[in-house]
Amino acid sequence: MDLIPAPSSAVRRPDEDFPLDAATTLTASPALADAERWLRATLSAATGLPLGPGRPGEGIELVLDDALAAEAYRLTVRPGHVLLAAGGPAGAVWGAQTLRQLLGPDAYRRSPLRREGWVLPGADIEDAPRFGWRGVLLDVARHFLPKSDVLRFVDLLAAHKLNVLHLHLTDDQGWRLEIRRYPRLTGRGAWRERSMVGYRAAQRRDDRPHGGYYTQDDLREIVAYAAARGITVVPEIDLPGHTQAAVAAYPELGNSDVVDTAALGVWTDWGVSHNVLNASEATLRFFEGVLEEVLELFPSEFIHLGGDECPKEQWKDSVAAQERIRELGLANEDELQSHLIRHFDRWLAERGRRLIGWDEILEGGLAPGAAVASWRGFGGGVAAAKAGHDVVMCPEQHVYFDHRQADGPDEPIPIGFVRTLEDVYRFEPVPGQLDESAARHVIGTQANLWSEFTDSARDIDYRAFPRLVAFAEVAWSELPTEPAARDFAGFEQRLTTHLKALDALGVEYRPADGPHPWQRRPGVVGRPLEGPPPVR
Ligand code: ACM
Repeated sequence: MDLIPAPSSAVRRPDEDFPLDAATTLTASPALADAERWLRATLSAATGLPLGPGRPGEGIELVLDDALAAEAYRLTVRPGHVLLAAGGPAGAVWGAQTLRQLLGPDAYRRSPLRREGWVLPGADIEDAPRFGWRGVLLDVARHFLPKSDVLRFVDLLAAHKLNVLHLHLTDDQGWRLEIRRYPRLTGRGAWRERSMVGYRAAQRRDDRPHGGYYTQDDLREIVAYAAARGITVVPEIDLPGHTQAAVAAYPELGNSDVVDTAALGVWTDWGVSHNVLNASEATLRFFEGVLEEVLELFPSEFIHLGGDECPKEQWKDSVAAQERIRELGLANEDELQSHLIRHFDRWLAERGRRLIGWDEILEGGLAPGAAVASWRGFGGGVAAAKAGHDVVMCPEQHVYFDHRQADGPDEPIPIGFVRTLEDVYRFEPVPGQLDESAARHVIGTQANLWSEFTDSARDIDYRAFPRLVAFAEVAWSELPTEPAARDFAGFEQRLTTHLKALDALGVEYRPADGPHPWQRRPGVVGRPLEGPPPVR
């Protein structure tokens, strides 16, 4: 049946196939209406069959089963009846995805190539995810990704049973969400005059203005579209560093006693800007205002506040920052950063939400509810889990998918570590040194797609796929935790079928033997990292 990600158990029953025809019905418990709507719309488009409403006990039927966990499902295919039992709405959408996969690659098209011969193979499938957080970060700040491409990407995540879309919405190079009370954040902060092409050391630039942002209605649409497919959108408002676009829009947010913040534009370089927020009360109030609107838009429990890579030079030189450090009784600039993060940690907790941030936020000590995204390797995540914090493992050496997939001259803008499809398949998110109770704090894993070197959905397809397929199986399936024990050959075999589904969806994945000619970027300089093998 070639299912990816591999289900917990699947038994094929060869004499029990269920053929679909114009009379086949689809019915669901009211609580599973999202899965029913998706299944009818998707399968009708692909097969040309109407899948009209039917009665319980016949056709394709979606039911709730309280004995199952919320994301778990059981799919039973018999000649007269296909029963999808789910623990909750999410379990039903994952089961519906499996049902589409069972119909074969043509079921991923949007118009039927044929109206006959659609058959669900007789089977008993039981399934549930290993991790509750199966995430992907899209960096829509460095390069804006149009809304239609975000929605398409949501569909691709759903097809792989990934359930968190982390949107990196703000950075030095652009501010991408409308905030009604601060219109200049997008009026000015969403636009830059030009961009770098390739690694920053090459100093190559285009002369093409770049920008874009999502209106609040766009974001409501994205959030609802994702929710109907089992996906939570986690917004990231990065602070106090990675904020030059915000400072360019509102110069009073910056360290104006050190630099002329009124003269700043949105940054046109890659890298980490020194133009960070000041730590005044007024700046805290400003970002509380931003976050009030963020909370209205995004119902997710977690709100990501970045906290990574905040250069401290301006705070060292700023009389105002130094006064603030004294006034708050802090030891140094590092403590000033953790003061800011802890302020918003409490602010979110008071509103029933939880802060998640990059592993730097651990440095000043955190409130118990806050979670850590471990990106500089496993170390931050290990320390956080041992201290009782929830952790999302996304070490850059393993699951930064902007990094190159092969070591060769044809990889477009090769940067970072080589992480092949097989490396990703053998990635184990839970480090062996965690005992059982600390390991339970690893709530999941996430692949990050930073976008300095990808300026379109086509480029993102290339870097993301097929590695994201392997990542999805790592995040969902109960694979052996010992990387060497994983059956990569078996995965590759199932992938052969799955790539046909990606072809049908129009995903421009990296071919196993290297990029298509139009996927190369000859002459655009990258930054390969050699380095020792990453430590588990
Ligand atoms: C990061 O890559 N700076 C989180």
